Amino acid sequence: MSTDTLAAPRSPRTPDGAVRKRGANLEKWGWLYMRISGVVLVVLIFGHLFVNLMLGDGIHGIDFAFVAGKFASPFWQWWDVLMLWLALIHGANGMRTIVNDYITGATTRKVLVWALWLAAGFLILLGTLVVFTFDPCLGVENSTTDWLIQQCAAR
Ligand code: HEM
Repeated sequence: MSTDTLAAPRSPRTPDGAVRKRGANLEKWGWLYMRISGVVLVVLIFGHLFVNLMLGDGIHGIDFAFVAGKFASPFWQWWDVLMLWLALIHGANGMRTIVNDYITGATTRKVLVWALWLAAGFLILLGTLVVFTFDPCLGVENSTTDWLIQQCAAR
């Protein structure tokens, strides 16, 4: 049996499994990203759940004003945006792995992986815009909430 037909297991691969001769080892960086983002997400997700569900009135304290208050703070804006970016890229990359594992048709695989990144990119763009452009007083003249109208009039 010839021994030179097997590539080294850590060689860079194309999505079809062929050994790629040039360029970065994207599968390795993707693998590392899953581990590193996983560790950071533990802190971000459990911090998020603790602050929203345990502190103060806990879950009963969550309403429009609670969300508006958090989005008024750059700290929570960046916390939420980091969670959004890391989780969406983590989820899309994890789904890409599953698609590559189970879908045998090259065209179907390509379509699904493209759909995954397009969906993730769209949600990242939308979420980031919402977090950084959120304005609780936008359209407040149509609101039926008295305290909100008063608060916004005082600004
Ligand atoms: C507490 C936070 C999280 C941690 C510690 C974590 C950790 C991990 C790790 C280490 C992997 C790689 C597993 C492997 O290669 O065998 C993974 C895979 C994956 N993760 Fe996460 N993750 C977290 C949150 C999330 C979230 C929020 C999503 C969805 C948006 C998600 C979706 C996925 C998917 C789809 C996979 C691929 C599963 C597979 O290969 O079978 N994870 N996760």
